[in-house]
Amino acid sequence: MTRTLRRRRIAEDNSEMDDARLERPDRLDRLTIAIDGPSGAGKGTVARAVAARLGYRHIDTGAMYRAVAWKARQEGIDLTDESRVAAVAERAVFDLGSGRVVIDGHDVAAAIRTPEIDRAATTVARHPAVRRVLVARQHALGEGGGVVMEGRDIGTVVFPDADVKIYLDASPEERARRRASDPAHTSSKGAQLSDVATALAERDRNDSTRAASPLAIAPDATVVDTTGVPIDVVIEDVLALIRTRPMTDDR
Ligand code: DC
Repeated sequence: MTRTLRRRRIAEDNSEMDDARLERPDRLDRLTIAIDGPSGAGKGTVARAVAARLGYRHIDTGAMYRAVAWKARQEGIDLTDESRVAAVAERAVFDLGSGRVVIDGHDVAAAIRTPEIDRAATTVARHPAVRRVLVARQHALGEGGGVVMEGRDIGTVVFPDADVKIYLDASPEERARRRASDPAHTSSKGAQLSDVATALAERDRNDSTRAASPLAIAPDATVVDTTGVPIDVVIEDVLALIRTRPMTDDR
């Protein structure tokens, strides 16, 4: 059953947790942490900070769909041509991590955060053949644990057995506001909030209604509503959820 975070309960759980449980050295060792949710829910900031705090790797799977869309456009490939785009994904050499997004030797970290690539990535992500390739690669990248992976289908498809599954959400207005003030996104610069909100709603609709792995809440995920919550509080809440997760044998 999906759980929803109740902030006060987590704080109480933390203060009441016995020391032995907190200090179990294996508790935080090489877990697989899935963070899913719609655009602008705060996944990137939260996943990056949580990975840094735990000394884990952070993998942004949205950046992989974006980089494939960028490369396909570079090669003049029609983005609706599923098999050609899947071939780009298959051949691609990725170098991801610590904010780096490199595909086939091209550093695209900035180039993939534009309105054109927002749309192109959504088109590319609809193709089952592209998803098959990228899901397999994401699975390989996360193998062995010690990873915080963010996306739309991490807890449902990529790592259905993840140790911790978080679904971050926020109201559409708040998500649009965050996206509009995100310096990494060129779509935000000078854009009207209403335009950002419209584009976001369109992408949400596409991501949630596509046939292949639509954005969905895993039944065993904890939903964290970040509306009106400062991001550093969200980060602490997520870390608390990780520390207090049920052990595999008492789940
Ligand atoms: O999170 P983002 O906005 O960078 O993602 C870019 C696109 O890729 C967006 O349309 C959602 C899609 N995506 C996906 O379908 N599955 C993922 N695991 C990650 C992103």
